[in-house]
Amino acid sequence: MKLLLGQTLTFGENPFEAPAEVAAHHETRGAVAIRGGLIADLGTADDLRARYPKAEIADYGEALISPGFIDAHAHYPQTAIIASWGKRLIDWLNTYTFPEEARLVDAAYAHDIAGRYFDLTLANGTTTTTSFCTIHKTSVDAYFDEAQKRGIRALGGKTCMDRNAPKNLMDTAQSAYDDSKALLEKWHRVDRLSYVITPRFAPTSTPEQLAVLGALWGENPTCLMQTHISEQVEEIDWVADLFPKARDYLDVYDGFGLTGPGALLGHAIHLTPRERAAIRERDMSLVHCPTSNTFIGSGLFDMAGLAQDGHRIGLATDTGGGSSFSMLRTMAAAYEVAQLSGHALHPAQLWYLATMGSARALRLDDKIGTLTPGSEADLTIIDLASTPAISQRAAGAETFWEALFPTIMMGDDRAIRDVWVGGKLRV
Ligand code: GUN
Ligand code: ZN
Repeated sequence: MKLLLGQTLTFGENPFEAPAEVAAHHETRGAVAIRGGLIADLGTADDLRARYPKAEIADYGEALISPGFIDAHAHYPQTAIIASWGKRLIDWLNTYTFPEEARLVDAAYAHDIAGRYFDLTLANGTTTTTSFCTIHKTSVDAYFDEAQKRGIRALGGKTCMDRNAPKNLMDTAQSAYDDSKALLEKWHRVDRLSYVITPRFAPTSTPEQLAVLGALWGENPTCLMQTHISEQVEEIDWVADLFPKARDYLDVYDGFGLTGPGALLGHAIHLTPRERAAIRERDMSLVHCPTSNTFIGSGLFDMAGLAQDGHRIGLATDTGGGSSFSMLRTMAAAYEVAQLSGHALHPAQLWYLATMGSARALRLDDKIGTLTPGSEADLTIIDLASTPAISQRAAGAETFWEALFPTIMMGDDRAIRDVWVGGKLRV
C-alpha cells in the first residue's frame, strides 16, 4: 500500500450539468491510497494515515494529485512534424503529414517515433493516449509495443486510406479489412491496450473501404471506431462532391455502419443541426482538438452549446495538427476557443474535459479519469507554482479554482511533478 498526500481533485458529477462546487470533489489536504495498480481509497490525509499506518508515504505537500490526463485523439506518427508552418488541412496533409507517415513503413523508425511520443506524453502528465497510426501494420505494432513496455493505457488502430493519398500510403478495401482484423486480434484487450477501427476520414476511403470497416466494427462491437468529421469547410465541400447522395458528412459514415455508440468523431466543428441531433441521439462521442483548430485555422468548436445539449465530449491534442503534447496547453486553448464564442469555461469544466470527459468519450469511465476507489492508479501530480509567472499569480488566489486557473492557462510540462501509471511511478 502506498499513500500519496496532497491536494486532490476528482469529479462526482459533470460540471457542465451541476455547479462546480457540487460536481468537483476537492480536498486541500487529501490522500489517495494505491495498491496493486488500483486506487484503494480516497479521503483526507489524516483519515487515511490513521487507516493505513504502515503505508509507504509520498507527501506532495501543496501539489495537486489529479487523475492522469487522457488524450482522446492524436496522431503519434506526426510527432516529428508537429509545428509545421503555413498550411490549411488538405495542403498540410499533403505537404507535411503524408511524407512523414510514409516513413513509418520502417519498423525501427516506427519504434523510435512511438517511444519518443510516449516519453513526451508521459512527461506532460498524459497517462492514456488514443492515436491514429499509419496504414502500415508496423506502425500499430510499434505503438502498442512501446505503450505495453511503459504499462500505459493506449488505444489506437491502423489508419485506412484507399484513395486521395500518395501511392505508398494506400491500402485497399480488402487489405484494410484483413490487416485491421489481424491487428485487432493481436492487440485488442491485451493488457491495457484497445484496438480502434480507424478509417482516416471520408475523402481518403472509397465506399467499398468504408463498408468493410463498418462490417468489421459490426463483428467487433467492443472496439471503438475513430475518424474525423467536419473540420474545415473545404473538406466538407470535398465530401459533398465525393458522396453526392449523402445528406451531409455524418450521413456518409451512417451509410456504411460507421455511426453509433463507440464512434469517436474528431473535430466536429461545422456540424449541421441535423448532424448534431443525430450524434446526440445515437450517443456518439465528439472530440475537441482546440490547439489544432486554431493552428490549422479550422474554426471554433461549440463547446457550450454541445455540452448543454448533453453531448459526450472528450479533449485532445490532435498531435501533430495540434501544436502541443500538453493537455494543460490544450485546456488553455479550449478556454480561448470558447471565449471567442462568448463563453467562459470554468476551470472545473476544463479539468473535467481532460480527465473524466475524455474517459467518458472513450467509454472507459469505469476505469480511468477519476480518483474513485477501484479505478486504475493513473495519477498526475501537478505543481501549482511551476514558474515564477504562475507562482506569483496563484499566490494571490482566494479560492482553489483561482489558484488552479493560472496553471491551466500558463502551465506546461514544467508543472508535471510526477506521473504514476498503473500504480507505478514512471516520471
Ligand atoms: N483529417 C484527416 N487526417 C487528418 C490529420 O491527420 N489531422 C487532422 N487534423 N485532420 C485530419
Ligand atoms: Zn486527427
